[in-house]
Amino acid sequence: MPLLRDIFIALSENDTLNDASKKVGLKFGASKVVAGITVEDTIERIKDINAQGMSVSFDNLGEFITEKTDALEEKNIILEMIQAIGDKGLDASASIKLTQIGLHIDYDFCLENIREIVQAAKMQDMFVNIDMENYASYGDTIRIVDTLNEEYDNVGTVLQSYLFTAKDDVYKYKDNRIRFVKGAYKESPQVALQEKEDIDKALELLIRLHLTNGSGFTSIATHDHNIIENVIEFIKENDIPNDRFEFQMLFGFRKELQRELVERGYNVCVYIPFGSDWYAYFMRRLAERPQNINLVLKSITKS
Ligand code: FDA
Repeated sequence: MPLLRDIFIALSENDTLNDASKKVGLKFGASKVVAGITVEDTIERIKDINAQGMSVSFDNLGEFITEKTDALEEKNIILEMIQAIGDKGLDASASIKLTQIGLHIDYDFCLENIREIVQAAKMQDMFVNIDMENYASYGDTIRIVDTLNEEYDNVGTVLQSYLFTAKDDVYKYKDNRIRFVKGAYKESPQVALQEKEDIDKALELLIRLHLTNGSGFTSIATHDHNIIENVIEFIKENDIPNDRFEFQMLFGFRKELQRELVERGYNVCVYIPFGSDWYAYFMRRLAERPQNINLVLKSITKS
């Protein structure tokens, strides 16, 4: 349903709707896929997920920030979450979007902010993943990841299988902890694969390459059961130990599959978004899978 995808992506980029949604709390079924608005609410969700045998990576929602004061506020929320996780001894890592902490404002300002976050996480023995956003941010994101990798050992990033650059990057980051995804943004045919089948095949190939080259840890981030089963078959054939990889899924999606993988003995990490800036994230999830519109319809008919 490419048309619906485009509509939801356009909605996710609408400034007025993004601003309005910050004032109204989680609406339209968003609470099914967003863990909470505050650090306190979210800590409770993390405890629940840890109790089910899964780790967590938290994501403070909000991206494409244009004011330094806003970026600093977001950084402080992230620091607060890192501290709260450390204090409670929870099993969680951080997922950070650089545009939230100033990438589009000033490169050096953003670098200082992410350094502070990585340093705070390091004190809690916590891993920090630098999320990959749209292609316009790709070059600067990679530059920052490379700088941080020279200074710290608790940083990794994401490779999007739709990008033509991913195949080179998988070798470059063969010894790093990397999350593999299909890619959530609308990119041009000049830089990215356009057909779902090609993107799926590319994802499987990248995961296999990362699992069998170098010493990196592979995070397989997909809800696609076909890819998950193919990867499990590959892992068994190649005797890859369970501590070399994990499956990652988004909070609220395919909970039965998450549980089943835990029961089969695999590491599962749940990516939990939180915060008042939930709207663009929620629209992107609807763009990926318009069937998720059921969440919206159910919430409207209940109210
Ligand atoms: P996709 O949506 O292509 O679905 C494939 C098939 O799986 C479907 O046809 C269906 O059969 C099944 N399926 C999927 N969802 C289902 C459901 N809810 N119920 C039942 N069946 C379902 N992107 C990005 O650009 N940068 C990033 O940093 C990240 N980070 C990230 C972290 C994590 C933990 C995840 C899981 C994803 C991301 N993404 C991301 C998003 C990613 O790029 C991608 O857009 C989504 O994961 C959707 O693609 P999938 O691989 O999940 O399957």
